[in-house]
Amino acid sequence: MRTPIVVAGSLNMDFVVQMQALPTPGQTLRGRDFQLLPGGKGANQACAVGKLGGRGLMLGRVGGDVFGEQLKASLAAAGVDTGRVARTAGEATGVALIFVESGGQNMIVIAAGANDRFMPADIEAAGDCFTPGGYVLLQLESPQETVEAAAAFARGRGMTVILDPAPARPLSRALLGNVDILTPNETEALLLLGRPPGEVALAEAPRLAAALRAQGPRCVILKLGDKGAWYSGGTAEGHVPAFEVEAVDATAAGDTFNGALAVALSEGAALAAAVRFANCAAAISVTRLGAQASVPSRAEVDAMLRA
Ligand code: RIB
Repeated sequence: MRTPIVVAGSLNMDFVVQMQALPTPGQTLRGRDFQLLPGGKGANQACAVGKLGGRGLMLGRVGGDVFGEQLKASLAAAGVDTGRVARTAGEATGVALIFVESGGQNMIVIAAGANDRFMPADIEAAGDCFTPGGYVLLQLESPQETVEAAAAFARGRGMTVILDPAPARPLSRALLGNVDILTPNETEALLLLGRPPGEVALAEAPRLAAALRAQGPRCVILKLGDKGAWYSGGTAEGHVPAFEVEAVDATAAGDTFNGALAVALSEGAALAAAVRFANCAAAISVTRLGAQASVPSRAEVDAMLRA
């Protein structure tokens, strides 16, 4: 029996335009292609869980429009249980406007819509899904009180709580105290430590991870882009190098990382091996356009790891 992985979070329809360079304020630019693709940080994580062979269940809210049904269908096609994704009459499904430049970097603006109606009461209503020994994946595109309620509820049920603190925002000690594994990128790590945005040198990673662990999480995994990842959890600590790939679109690389991490851990992998698996899945996702569309299959990840 596979270990349950509950993802509580956002579902968005992504409006994606590829372009040569990202716009500056006041500028009008011609883009290359436009695509409507399933996204949302929560749904992307759930999609990664499903495509990589985990037993994923999505909790969240969509609107009463056609996008909501399309987003649920995308997750169902990836093998995710969407029976607890609520339809919110009178609300629009969340959308994200995404510009992707030729080097793969992006700019994202979100209109949260129904995601902002995902409340602590929704977590309580889905209490039977929180199985002891399972995993819960959280991100920050839902109301803060809902993220806090989900972490506390899951911790109370003896589940492992994995929080991707994205998009970056300050977090309460109460929330961080209920997190088992925190997975910030450089920007998010610096913000949580009250430091200005910038790059993190690999040599600095152990100190940053220790400072973040002092805020509550049992384990911290710093996602450092092309510098790989630094993990720090109790007795285990180390660096996992990045896989070298040709970047097309970085959208959802972090979401893919978290979904893959949960799958590997749920299968009993040690932390270092789970981080390597997650790095590999994220690297493949960067080579393709779109969020859920870029998440690799289990066979693709296994093949790249073997190679
Ligand atoms: O992490 C990528 C996601 O961020 C996109 O799919 C978009 O919906 C935004 O939520």
